[in-house]
Formats: sequence, C-alpha cells, structure tokens
Amino acid sequence: MQKLLSSLGPVCAIIGAQWGDEGKGKVIDLLAEHFDVVARACGGANAGHTIVVNGKKHVFHLLPSGALHPHATVVIGGGLVLHLPTLLEEIRTLREAGIDVLPRLFISEEAHILFEFHKAIDGMLEEQRAAKRGKGIGTTRRGIGPAYMDKAARLGIRMGSLAGDLTAELSLRADMVKRMYGVEVKQAEELQHLSEARALLAGRVVDTVGLLHRLLGEGKMLLIEGAQATLLDLDHGTYPFVTSSSTTAAGALQGLGLPPRCLTSCIGVAKAYCTRVGEGEFLTEVQGPTGDRLRERGGEYGATTGRPRRCGWLHLPDLQRAAQINGYTHWNITKLDVLDEEETIPVGIGVTPEGRLKEEKLPGWKQSTEGITSFEKLPRAAQHYLSFIEKHTGVPVSLIGTGQERGAMIIRG
Ligand code: IMP
Repeated sequence: MQKLLSSLGPVCAIIGAQWGDEGKGKVIDLLAEHFDVVARACGGANAGHTIVVNGKKHVFHLLPSGALHPHATVVIGGGLVLHLPTLLEEIRTLREAGIDVLPRLFISEEAHILFEFHKAIDGMLEEQRAAKRGKGIGTTRRGIGPAYMDKAARLGIRMGSLAGDLTAELSLRADMVKRMYGVEVKQAEELQHLSEARALLAGRVVDTVGLLHRLLGEGKMLLIEGAQATLLDLDHGTYPFVTSSSTTAAGALQGLGLPPRCLTSCIGVAKAYCTRVGEGEFLTEVQGPTGDRLRERGGEYGATTGRPRRCGWLHLPDLQRAAQINGYTHWNITKLDVLDEEETIPVGIGVTPEGRLKEEKLPGWKQSTEGITSFEKLPRAAQHYLSFIEKHTGVPVSLIGTGQERGAMIIRG
C-alpha cells in the first residue's frame, strides 16, 4: 500500500473509463483514509454510490464517498449541480449514523442549484425525444441536463446567492420556464427548500478554489472523486447518449479550479467486463443467458434508478481511448470475480469497416477468485486477462477488485 501511495503523489483523481458504475466507491474508500481532502468536481444526484454505515446500506448521490472518513475535509466543487433536499438528506443520514460531516464540508459558491423544475423539464424532454426519435436518452430524470442548460445559458442560480432572498429571481425564472416549457414552477416548495438549505448550510458555502489551493500549498493530499465516467462525457462520450457534464480528469480539474499540472496521478476504473444503464451504443453487449448471468453475478442494477444494467464484455478501444483522454497512471480493474464462471471471455478489439465487432476470445479460469488479495494467487488465465489489458493500454493494473468485501482487493506495487 505504501508503495502505491507514494506512486500516487499528493493529487489523485479517480475517473471511470466506461459508462459509470465501475465500482469507484471501493478504491475511494480504500484511499480516502490516506488523503486529507476528498472532493467531488462535477455532475449531480445522477451519481449513486452505495455506502455501508454501521452495517446499514445507504445510497449517496452528492456527497463524496470519502466523506465517511471523519478526518477528511470534504469539498463539493463548482462544477456540480446541487439538488439541495438530496444534499440535506445525506448530511442528516450521516449525522444519524454518528458522522457529522457539516463542520468539515465546504461547498463552492460557484456550484449551481438544481431545482425541482429542472427535474420536471428533464422528464418532459425525455418524453419529447421518445416521441420524436422513438427513444429518449434514458436519463436518471434528476434534472441534470436542464440544470446544465441553465448554467450554459447563464440563467442558473448559484450557491453563492443562497444566503440572500431568491424570491424575485425565482419568480422571474418561473415565468421563463412556463413560457419555454409549459412547466409550472412550484415556487413555494422551491423557496421552502432554499430556506432549509440556507439554515443548515450557513457558513459552509465558500470560495473552494481558494481553499483547495491553500490546502495544497500546505502540503495536504487531495483525492478527487470523478462522477459518471468517460463514455458519458459530454464531449468525448457516446453523444447524444451522455450526461451533461465533463466527466474526465480535465473536467474534474476544471470543476475544482485546479491547474492540469497539479494532478500527480489518475486511476482509471473499469469493470473486468462492461455495463451500461440507459440507451445508446454498446457494441459488446450480450443478451440472453450470458448477459443475465453477468447481471446476477455482478448485482447489476442501477443505484440511483434501480434499472437493470445492460451487460457485456470489455471493448479495448474504449479503454485505450479513456487512458489517452485522462492520462491514466494506474488501472483499478473491478469485479474480476464476476467472470469466475466463464468458459471463455470475449474482448472487443475494434470494428471492421463494415461496422462489425472484432473480438478476441481469452480463456476463462473457471475457479473462484473471490477474496484473493495477491496477484500471484490468481489463476494463470486471470493473470493473463489482466496482463492483456495492461499490454494493450500501456497502463499498469495496480488494483484489482475480487469481491464485495472491503478487503477483497489486490494492491500491486
Ligand atoms: P443524466 O445524467 O441523468 O442526464 O443521464 C444521461 C445518461 O447518463 C443516462 O444514460 C444515464 O443512465 C447515465 N448516467 C448518469 N449518471 C450515471 C451514473 O452515475 N452511473 C451510470 N450511468 C449514469
């Protein structure tokens, strides 16, 4: 572990390589213990990470998972769109479990407020897309797209304004929303949410850019928790079936107001196979009994929406592209044990000019890898599978998830 930590350096980002749900929470949990500051940089309550607090499972959407570590300073960066009732609920849930995050929580004044009406517009746009194109994007309906639309249109309301009276501003927005979308803004409800947040978050909304630079100047170590993942990135993902934020390492730095050169490492997280929720291309998707087996073995149901995830195999060009875009220095390959029963494991290696998927079939290992904590103890075929990823992406596989348990992880070097 010590060797891994020194190879990570003081500023490490954890960035998913696929369509989200790679299981980033586990490596974050493992590393957060050793970092002083944990930060989320972008996205909103579309993210969902399952956290076990005192034996009870909770799904968190906005707070970084590292918030569970009582020593950690917790930063919510300016790139986020914040649904305040969700944030308040998470703070209260943690408090009930004996973890008081508030005194060490710092929320950027540049983060945007996501209102209930954003959710209503999200649902409405999905229905319109479905009616026009035959299918929607399959969004989480958490209002993410419309909140970022307001931000880009310079109509958004930011956390920095929370301390003041937003009645007039909201009424103005309500008029526009009604005219543009025919959506009725429930102003009293929205104002109630704002007033509860104003009371609870008093003093917690600050200049997080200045704060982060000061902390880094003092030699503190920062762990950046990416949300969603590279193939959902607004620019580089499978557009239009993407989210509305920049989910890459560069996007995370932008969301936090940090310069590119400060990043000392970037851990790419990918499942040993692949999943996707929502619509959009998925070249290596498998349906039928094999897809069902992966879904059941991997527990592949969305943390935010409960939707069954589509399942399939790795697609090497996606991993290579994610490694390029994010500058991965390490891989964390998660859920290796889910493949334990496979006879052979196909890996997508590209597409023919006619658009047909090219595959290479790697041998399976047909034995349990669950709970294994050293690379040498893995079956030969599993070692080969991981080396294959390493060889073709040029990034070392440093962390390997081998089960649900906290300790079920191989840490190399
Ligand atoms: P939105 O972010 O709710 O607008 O959804 C856009 C697309 O991103 C949909 O396909 C969602 O299923 C997907 N998505 C958004 N957040 C996550 C996530 O945290 N994990 C996996 N998929 C996500």
